[in-house]
Amino acid sequence: MKGVILAGGTGTRLYPLTRLINKHLLPVGRYPMVCYGIERLRQAGINDILMVIGKQSAGLYADFFGSGENFGVKLNFRVQESAGGIAEALELAEGFIAAGEKFVVLLGDNLFLDDLTPYVQQYEQQQSGSARVLLKPVDDPRRYGVPVFDQKQPELITYIEEKPKHPKSKYSVTGIYMYDDTVFSIIKGISRSARGELEITDVNNRYAEQGKLEYDILKLWWGDAGTPESLREAEVYMRGVLP
Ligand code: DAU
Repeated sequence: MKGVILAGGTGTRLYPLTRLINKHLLPVGRYPMVCYGIERLRQAGINDILMVIGKQSAGLYADFFGSGENFGVKLNFRVQESAGGIAEALELAEGFIAAGEKFVVLLGDNLFLDDLTPYVQQYEQQQSGSARVLLKPVDDPRRYGVPVFDQKQPELITYIEEKPKHPKSKYSVTGIYMYDDTVFSIIKGISRSARGELEITDVNNRYAEQGKLEYDILKLWWGDAGTPESLREAEVYMRGVLP
């Protein structure tokens, strides 16, 4: 299986720091944030990774990671010209993924303690053309994509609401997604949202409509390091994950 890490976007919630350096290169302990995602993929046996980055700090990625050899992986890079949404960034992985191939997608600001191996194994068993997302119970689901579960088939998600005012469950859909190459034709079929982005939630809802969106629930700590508070929290939880 291959891996894709999405590290484009503007990181506005971390201004002014992110005017100087791309969010995913900000320090979490002794490492740039995005190293933890690389490590989680490597731990799950995923060594061939595409990183989608913005133009900002592009040279720093090459300086720091090179080919990925020092991190035990093979890294490829693609540049997203402007922050047109998570699904737009994901579309840049077309060509990296072969016909029928399954892969794992991580949002570069998502940090977590679970080993992905058992979830990846679950997805290997799923029928082709289906998707899997990882969930986590959170205190304030209004900040995230929130799943609504199927009453009759509890292993399925019927719908995800993006940042709902009145969440229908206590879960966040984390930025850990599993797809096969059918995702690229789905992305081509969605339209830009009111904020002008191609939304990953619209992509996931296409799978959900067809009864093809399954999930697992993370057991350990998870957070997205998109704000100063969550970045500080991540720093505490991720201590010791990398040597
Ligand atoms: O963290 C989990 C949440 O991530 C989910 O619960 C939401 O459903 C999902 O929409 C997303 O919400 P955010 O508002 O946190 O997404 P944000 O715009 O902050 O982007 C998250 C990451 O995606 C960011 O670290 C880099 C990548 N990204 C984002 C955009 C907009 C790109 O690579 N390119 C982009 O254009």
